[in-house]
Amino acid sequence: MSIATKTAMLLLAAMLVLVSCDQSVNRTHIDYPEEASNDFKVYSSYCSSCHAPPLPDAHVAKEWPNVIARMQQHRVERRMDPIIAQDMQILRRYLERFAKSDSTL
Ligand code: HEC
Repeated sequence: MSIATKTAMLLLAAMLVLVSCDQSVNRTHIDYPEEASNDFKVYSSYCSSCHAPPLPDAHVAKEWPNVIARMQQHRVERRMDPIIAQDMQILRRYLERFAKSDSTL
């Protein structure tokens, strides 16, 4: 393989990495419930640092507390400030209010 080909391949790889890191590319807008509310602001501030915040209907209400507790662990593992108790309640309230309906209830 010539130097020119290798260089071209490296450049291409670098560009691919850059494109995939730019989150604005190809992201379609997701509509969250009550996006203008303070609850949503708290939710998105805590739940968008590592991945896109999931929609509340990703889980039924009774599953959310365990998921939130696991995310709290992820924060601690990454030495991020833990979610404070007051905000924890807001997060739970927001997620549980718009959770997937539970057909087993
Ligand atoms: C410190 C980084 C971090 C933050 C902040 C974070 N998450 Fe996560 N999240 C992860 C990781 C890592 C995974 C994949 C492993 C797992 O599921 O535990 C994940 C996966 C998920 C999943 C998919 C797995 C499942 O159980 O459905 C959901 C839903 C989720 N997160 C919700 C949340 C919510 C809600 C918040 C805010 C309270 C949040 N995340 C904040 C790191 C984070």
